Amino acid sequence: MSEIDIEQYKITEEPFYQAQEDEVELYQAAYESRLPMMVKGPTGCGKSRFIEHMAWKLGKPLITVACNEDMTASDLVGRYLLDAGGTRWLDGPLTIAARIGAICYLDEVVEARQDTTVVIHPLTDHRRTLPLDKKGEQVTAHDHFQLVISYNPGYQSLMKDLKQSTKQRFVGLDFDYAPSQVEADIVAKEAGIDTETAMKLVKIGETARNLKGHGLDEGISTRLLVYAANLMNKGIAPNKACRMALVRPITDDADIRGTLDHAIDAIFA
Ligand SMILES: Nc1ncnc2c1ncn2[C@@H]1O[C@H](COP(=O)(O)OP(=O)(O)OP(=O)(O)O)[C@@H](O)[C@H]1O
Ligand SMILES: [Mg+2]
Repeated sequence: MSEIDIEQYKITEEPFYQAQEDEVELYQAAYESRLPMMVKGPTGCGKSRFIEHMAWKLGKPLITVACNEDMTASDLVGRYLLDAGGTRWLDGPLTIAARIGAICYLDEVVEARQDTTVVIHPLTDHRRTLPLDKKGEQVTAHDHFQLVISYNPGYQSLMKDLKQSTKQRFVGLDFDYAPSQVEADIVAKEAGIDTETAMKLVKIGETARNLKGHGLDEGISTRLLVYAANLMNKGIAPNKACRMALVRPITDDADIRGTLDHAIDAIFA
């Protein structure tokens, strides 16, 4: 087996993360007990950033896997490849993480099929092992290994929910868009704009979040607020930057677009 280059998974610079409550301490305690962690919350609210920050803080490598419904167990654990020299085993990201003692972050895990998700079971209980059935090897997880999954509650249908036997292997933390003042600080810091302008963006975000369930499936995320701020930083007029970053991506409904465009013009008048 070829050597794994651990360095590529290390986070060398502190990722900026603005804590909302005591999630940093709670995560730390879960990590110390090596409890598998589930982070829940809407898109673009800081889940991935939080995990990057925690991996940096704990000094552990981080391996992130974006899950999708076509993903198979082999995509996670590994497979035999055919090359000039014959067949060669290639570890998948989950196996690499278990071997090197990384934090393995399975993003949007509900997207994966249940027969894929069950491969994490033996890693998430007292066994902390990963059977590579095709290879006939049982990998014992490195002491530093931890599994983290993310979950957008409310997006998936019942068909796509995780099984209770999967859910009940994790501890969970809820995330949501930060309270206005905190979110304004995040946007200001991320994009390098003044807090007053950031606050205006947050107000537009809140207008959209109030429309959730009234024509919008999801409000404007912190991520999109940062996009708008970045565009404004490049000299784009606020009303154009906001239409482009905050409205066009989230809906095609003419009425809702009108409502949001109107709010933007009022706030940046
Ligand atoms: N608490 C926070 N501290 C710092 N930045 C944040 C925070 N919350 C959100 N952000 C900003 O929002 C962006 C999106 O956050 P992130 O990628 O972590 O979202 P997510 O919750 O993982 O979304 P998804 O479910 O779509 O993957 C980040 O790149 C960052 O700019
Ligand atoms: Mg994410």
